[in-house]
Amino acid sequence: MTRTNRIHIRPVDTLRGQVAVPGDKSVSHRALLFTALAEGSSRIRNLAPGADVQSTASVLQALGVSILQEDGAVVVQGTGRTGFTSSRGSLDCGNSGTTMRLMMGMLAGTGFESVLIGDESLSSRPMARIADPLRQMGLEVELTPEGTAPIRLRGMRPRAIHWTSRVASAQVKSAILLAGLAAPGCTSVTEPTRSRDHTERLLRQMGVPLEVTGNKVALHGPARLSAIPELLVPGDLSSAAFWLVAGLLRGEDLRVLNVGLNPTRTGVLDALEAMGATLEIKRHAESVEPMGDIVVRRQPVFGTTLAGDLVVRAIDEIPILAVLATQAQGRTTIRDASELRVKECDRITAMVSMLQAMGAHISELEDGMIIDGPTPLQGASVYPMHDHRIAMSGAIAAMCVDDGTSTTIHDADVARVSYPNFYADLDRLSA
Ligand code: S3P
Repeated sequence: MTRTNRIHIRPVDTLRGQVAVPGDKSVSHRALLFTALAEGSSRIRNLAPGADVQSTASVLQALGVSILQEDGAVVVQGTGRTGFTSSRGSLDCGNSGTTMRLMMGMLAGTGFESVLIGDESLSSRPMARIADPLRQMGLEVELTPEGTAPIRLRGMRPRAIHWTSRVASAQVKSAILLAGLAAPGCTSVTEPTRSRDHTERLLRQMGVPLEVTGNKVALHGPARLSAIPELLVPGDLSSAAFWLVAGLLRGEDLRVLNVGLNPTRTGVLDALEAMGATLEIKRHAESVEPMGDIVVRRQPVFGTTLAGDLVVRAIDEIPILAVLATQAQGRTTIRDASELRVKECDRITAMVSMLQAMGAHISELEDGMIIDGPTPLQGASVYPMHDHRIAMSGAIAAMCVDDGTSTTIHDADVARVSYPNFYADLDRLSA
């Protein structure tokens, strides 16, 4: 491997050892945002080190929130929403959809106008799914004619609404609930399938009662949040997924430590089990977010169908599951995954073209893909389309190439969005 923004990856025989993946990105964004909304000081341990969570921290700092490193933890001095000060410049959300969408809800009730911007990838992602409910709550929100950022938002005092979302999206749900915290009365969100519930867990922990009935979540505003003396962020299961797949294909007792095991996120584990994998999971004592260690070793895997609710619970892991499917015996069909087309890139097209270039039998469906395996992979040039998960999926596929050829990952550094040490960990585990 060479360390430039282009990385060459050679096939690996065996991966062994243990790895602590970075803190969970979804939980880290919420930890920063919600503790900023509280009054008083909160300490967060194992905050995700990637560029996305840094975008959330920078946006909050631009609004006057103090966020400091202290003895390996991050300390947030919450100001409460009314303590935010208007930023002179635009609020730059970088590549992070969670920053932009949750911030839209956070800005309700501030009284001032803000402009949210993002990089090229984020500026092409759909924002009307958040703007529509926020407008109904009385906010003024302007998007481009394509329904994308830059977003101009005036944070007037919101009114409570009952919203039914067409997509199962934790970002939509969270933005509405965050605005609802400032709205007098009951605000609720109903989804077609329940999305990840990190927002609900953390708000409860911070003293906000929520009612959950089926796929509906409701809260009563205005509500105040209590600071948290000590909050531990679990390791990111979405980052762990790369090692779980690598371990099934090339592992010798590969151990992934302190991984978040929130049941609304563990679709990837169910998918791996459906493909015949036996994972050894050692659960730790339960806290706000369940966590544990996972041990995985090389074993045969089989094709399956991934669809419905399971896909919602594994949406960010579908790219790496597609890599595994190329090495599974039989056909894997992935359906109900059209949300993949509006992630950091169109992940269906990106995975299909990358794996086809590596020799896989994979074809595109409007809402998923069909993969026939096992197929020996060959080295190729991988262009991750500004998407961290495509780059890392490409690296794991490259590691499993059969004919000894190496793969070049272009723009490899995009992995820093969620996992800055990814290539270093790959190097170490394959040594
Ligand atoms: C996230 C929710 C999901 C997920 C994203 C993180 C979150 O997106 O894909 O990586 O932290 O709320 P959607 O809300 O668009 O489904």
